[in-house]
Amino acid sequence: MERITSSNECHCLDRRGLLQGALALSGLPGLCCRTPEAPPASVTHAGCSIIIDLEKAPELRRVGAARAVVEIDRKVNIIVAHPEKHRWVALDRSCTHGGAQVTYNHRRRTLQCTSLNHAEYNLAGALLHGRTHGDLRAYRVRLAGSRLEIVLEPKP
Ligand code: FES
Repeated sequence: MERITSSNECHCLDRRGLLQGALALSGLPGLCCRTPEAPPASVTHAGCSIIIDLEKAPELRRVGAARAVVEIDRKVNIIVAHPEKHRWVALDRSCTHGGAQVTYNHRRRTLQCTSLNHAEYNLAGALLHGRTHGDLRAYRVRLAGSRLEIVLEPKP
């Protein structure tokens, strides 16, 4: 049986093939393969940056956590992960192969596509394996007090 903690951390990736087969039959994405969204009240904008107030998104303070920021009108669809103390990463959430959403795998410190082709990217967005059309775009992230600033310009 799939185990999902109260923090939504995924523990089923090792059984991914089995799960994906079942999910493919059902046509549904896996419960563990969705990244919860950051609370809308925690997200604001400043110029071309997104600001996440960690006071309003406390889950992102936990090492191993990840949250999505999705704003269709602004064409924003990113994943923010906290892989180690004092370090956050932010990357595009749509796989460059077919646009399926990636999720954060804390055990492997990678981003994994939820589609059956299973592309995997490192936390800089570089493709590790899979047939895709390139790397994921990664964004600069810095912490100022309790505010996480994500600069929506590609890293140089
Ligand atoms: S959409 Fe990600 S591997 Fe195909």
